[in-house]
Amino acid sequence: MVFVQSKQHHVAEWVKYLVIALMYGLVAIDGISSALADSGKTPTQQTEINENNDSVPRLVVESDTVAARLGGYHGILAFLHNFAVPALLADSEIASFFGNLTQTPAEIEQCLAMMLDHDLGGSSRHSGATLESGHRCRGSMPKIHQGRNIPDEVITKFFGIVSQQAELAGVSQFDIKAIAKVLERSRPGIRNK
Ligand code: HEM
Repeated sequence: MVFVQSKQHHVAEWVKYLVIALMYGLVAIDGISSALADSGKTPTQQTEINENNDSVPRLVVESDTVAARLGGYHGILAFLHNFAVPALLADSEIASFFGNLTQTPAEIEQCLAMMLDHDLGGSSRHSGATLESGHRCRGSMPKIHQGRNIPDEVITKFFGIVSQQAELAGVSQFDIKAIAKVLERSRPGIRNK
């Protein structure tokens, strides 16, 4: 009797160990398959480098270019039309430079939207696109602004209003900085031409 009981006890012990071993096995297999699934990804897909140069796990998939985050050409055009241009033209000093136009305001908005989309990583052409109106977007800043004599302070004010409007439109500080950098590149070509 004692012998039978101890034999049953042994079997129960073995079943317990078997269950534990199986559980460990499953965890190990899942771990390996997760690792295999991840191995096809580049390190940048699994992690990203933040401003402090630390590698952090990438939990949210973000659009990779500023242009994409702004909604591409159409998002930028809507921003110019609904936010930036009304605010710029509400400033009488800036508005005074927009007399005697050789193109319509809609054409200026469309060409500028394409240029910004391009410069912020989007798929638009920087210049040379022909609009529905037949207007062909130009690319040379000095030629476009030739004869307008736009002083440096007015350009600074123009950029400030664009940044302010981008903030109001909900654009992140990181993307506003990128937009400001792209605008700054055009300053020498626009100034006092
Ligand atoms: C980085 C800043 C700027 C950029 C990238 C830019 C770019 C452009 C573009 C792409 C056009 C359309 C030209 C075309 O394709 O035919 C345009 C037109 C024009 N821009 Fe700018 N611009 C900037 C700043 C300014 C500023 C600060 C002013 C004046 C305060 C200004 C005044 C004008 C005017 C008056 C036109 C129309 C020219 C015409 O009718 O012939 N722009 N600009």
